Amino acid sequence: MKKTHEKTHLRLRGHNTRSSAHTISRRKLLVAGAGLAGLGLGLAARGRPQSASLLRSRGGALTLDLDGRYGPVRLAGRTANLFSYGGRVPGPRLEVRPGDEVTLRFANALPEPTNLHFHGLHVPPTGNADNVFLEIPEGEQLTYSFKIPENHPAGTFWYHPHLHGLVAKQVFLGMAGLFVVRGELDEVPEVAAAREQFAVLKDFAISGGRVPPPNPREFMRGREGSLVTVNGELEPEWSLERGGLLRLRLLNASTARFYRLRLDDHPLFLIDTDGGALEEPYELDELLLAPGERAEVLIRGDREPGRYTLWNLPYDRGGGMGMGGGMMGGYAADLHPRPLAHLVYSASRQAVLPLPGRLGRVAELGQPKTIRRFVLGHQMRPGRVVAFTINGQVFDPRRLDTRVRLGTVEEWEIVNAGVLDHPFHLHTNSFQVISRAGRPEPLRAWKDTVLVPAGSIVRLRVGFEDFPGKAVYHCHILEHEDLGMMGIVRFEEGA
Ligand code: C2O
Ligand code: CU
Ligand code: CU
Repeated sequence: MKKTHEKTHLRLRGHNTRSSAHTISRRKLLVAGAGLAGLGLGLAARGRPQSASLLRSRGGALTLDLDGRYGPVRLAGRTANLFSYGGRVPGPRLEVRPGDEVTLRFANALPEPTNLHFHGLHVPPTGNADNVFLEIPEGEQLTYSFKIPENHPAGTFWYHPHLHGLVAKQVFLGMAGLFVVRGELDEVPEVAAAREQFAVLKDFAISGGRVPPPNPREFMRGREGSLVTVNGELEPEWSLERGGLLRLRLLNASTARFYRLRLDDHPLFLIDTDGGALEEPYELDELLLAPGERAEVLIRGDREPGRYTLWNLPYDRGGGMGMGGGMMGGYAADLHPRPLAHLVYSASRQAVLPLPGRLGRVAELGQPKTIRRFVLGHQMRPGRVVAFTINGQVFDPRRLDTRVRLGTVEEWEIVNAGVLDHPFHLHTNSFQVISRAGRPEPLRAWKDTVLVPAGSIVRLRVGFEDFPGKAVYHCHILEHEDLGMMGIVRFEEGA
């Protein structure tokens, strides 16, 4: 067993240049910290004020300055040296409306290159919009600008770095923020009457005030930290009026940790998934959120006044000792439920708030023109690198993997041939899940990230619209993405 681990270690080290750059920049970053009179501040982070926690568009425009920096950040009641947007973890929440122009002047004050991705937004993947092929060197700036389409659905989206090879590290160290589009769903009267609470779920590993480098085995599996936070806090308390409604808007911003959520004594009424509103609320006892996924649920304050806990229940995402999983190092998942947050009843309302009926319309996609198959796997060849693959290949920025025609519907069959679960994510266009493991999907919903459990098949349907250009699809366990599980798709105009 030990031998396998050592080999793994070597192979991972030797793998991609970024993984080694990773180690080098960590070293550089420690030196920079020491140079600044022991403040532990990274480069330009010194003296910069923290960003506001919420930035809303006005008069049809959201214009803001944002930086990526390394330095002290408040986290779970203490201070840790993290990567952040504007000195906050999570980063500032950005809010726009359909039709708004977004201008984001980004300054890279990190000790390494980075870029930005606007996860789930239906905006161009080219130019200075949601272009993950851009690279912003350390110390440089770039202005992102794009328009939110007039018909963009309301929903919970987010932003995070997307520079291949450094994504997992930069997100794990703290870089992620909500990007909210306000629209029709917010105007449904019952939804508008609910109290809104955002919850960014994110784990950290902190020791001596900083994040230790991952060990190669945990990196390969997808790194999980033992400090599990909600909006950068530990076990926050939220109040709920008796007879009232709480609208809980959840994001899994972890690189690899799954959240299997359950609230004591209360069902969760799902009203919105990654890409927007459902047609009507859907009652759940539990909600599983894989990395990158979002969901909105309504909670009814119809129980006895008291304090109720939102739990994260154990979930096995594979790679245990069986079925060759030992090659993944084996691991011990959380075996016990963990409290994430608490709901405390406050005074009673006069009139009890009803749940909404109809929320919106989820268009039915037509019959697919093309059916494609994507096989997710990994390769551990003696003496070579550990690779996470799609159709047997690791990511290559110079290779075009998939060409789709705009204005058509396609069906994608995602096959997980490995021993670990992989959440599959597509940029730019949301999709609908058709079936999981052969079972038809009960809900018509817009998704951009879907869990494909080890050994199973998920079929999804996607209508490719407007924006031409190159984008990517990948596993949203960001360590797997950095280790190669990503491909390039080009949206092409019809001939
Ligand atoms: Cu949330 Cu390609 O990423
Ligand atoms: Cu994305
Ligand atoms: Cu994966």
